[in-house]
Amino acid sequence: MDVTVLISGGTGLVGTRLTQLLQEKGCTVTHLSRSVSGDEKVKTYQWNIEKKEIDPEALTGVDYIIHLAGASIADKRWTDKRKELILKSRTESTQLLRDSIAKLGNHAIKAFVSASAVGYYGIDTGSAWVKEESPSGDGFAAEVTRQWETAVDEVTQLNIRVVKIRIGIVLSEKGGALVKIMQPIKLGAGAPLGRGGQYMSWIHLDDLCHLFIFALEQKDMAGVYNGVAPHPATNHELTKKTADVLNKPLFLPNVPAFALKLLLGEMAQVVTGGNRVSSKKIEEAGFEFKYTELRPALVDLLR
Ligand SMILES: NC(=O)c1ccc[n+]([C@@H]2O[C@H](COP(=O)([O-])OP(=O)(O)OC[C@H]3O[C@@H](n4cnc5c(N)ncnc54)[C@H](OP(=O)(O)O)[C@@H]3O)[C@@H](O)[C@H]2O)c1
Repeated sequence: MDVTVLISGGTGLVGTRLTQLLQEKGCTVTHLSRSVSGDEKVKTYQWNIEKKEIDPEALTGVDYIIHLAGASIADKRWTDKRKELILKSRTESTQLLRDSIAKLGNHAIKAFVSASAVGYYGIDTGSAWVKEESPSGDGFAAEVTRQWETAVDEVTQLNIRVVKIRIGIVLSEKGGALVKIMQPIKLGAGAPLGRGGQYMSWIHLDDLCHLFIFALEQKDMAGVYNGVAPHPATNHELTKKTADVLNKPLFLPNVPAFALKLLLGEMAQVVTGGNRVSSKKIEEAGFEFKYTELRPALVDLLR
């Protein structure tokens, strides 16, 4: 692929691996970041979303944009200030990108592929399968993803193909949810969270990155696609299988939801709730997952 791909938030968990995979395919990858890194392999352009500033060179010669930037939803308690940052880092960053492309006049951007999240479907949709056309649900994460996707949709007005990937829980040994699940297990203090039966729609990091690349390549792909593996697991299964793969016992009772609420505040709903999200649409578009089942994914990552 002899193309230039600009990734916003390319320094994060998904962006770092995606950068590697795109470079292996022969793409030129550039990053849009809040700070200039010392990474010599990637040309990095700076932006300041609050000030609506972006390096004027950032969009020159760009064929594709992958938009991943956003303040982490599960790192810090959801104070009003944090909530504002989580939302604006997604909506205002998208608007800044759109306005900057519009100002270019003649651009050669063929597709804009944005992250979104399965949080769109609401706090807890039980064991019913949710699909792309299912309604959006309740809670802060759903509100954020709705506004984020609305901002992303506006990019279509610039005659650019737009794809939104509603990402599930990304499994990686380098960061994100799996590392948080592993820490107590390694200390012999692992336990399922809340009722344990809530669905965690997971995806192996490599499958997600290949899915983003697939979305760049497939010219007929547009709109929203779930980025989750075909077989979601319950929180209990995810915790138990992680412990098994690590050869650690799991004997403690579930951590009650009220304790998680005390510890994490409103953010507890990220772990006490869940969604059983369907991958049918992306599979019907021709995408083939390497990791369809949880155990092989965990074995690949943890052994
Ligand atoms: N990982 C998951 O399980 C998961 C699940 C669902 C959805 N997603 C979404 O997928 C995207 C990528 O996920 P990830 O796990 O790679 O995230 P990540 O590791 O947190 O990286 C996100 C990147 O966004 C940039 N960023 C952070 N705070 C920002 C702010 N206040 N304003 C603007 N940019 C900011 C950072 O890049 P710079 O420091 O270079 O600016 C950071 O490296 C995110 O939008 C995330 O919400 C992830």
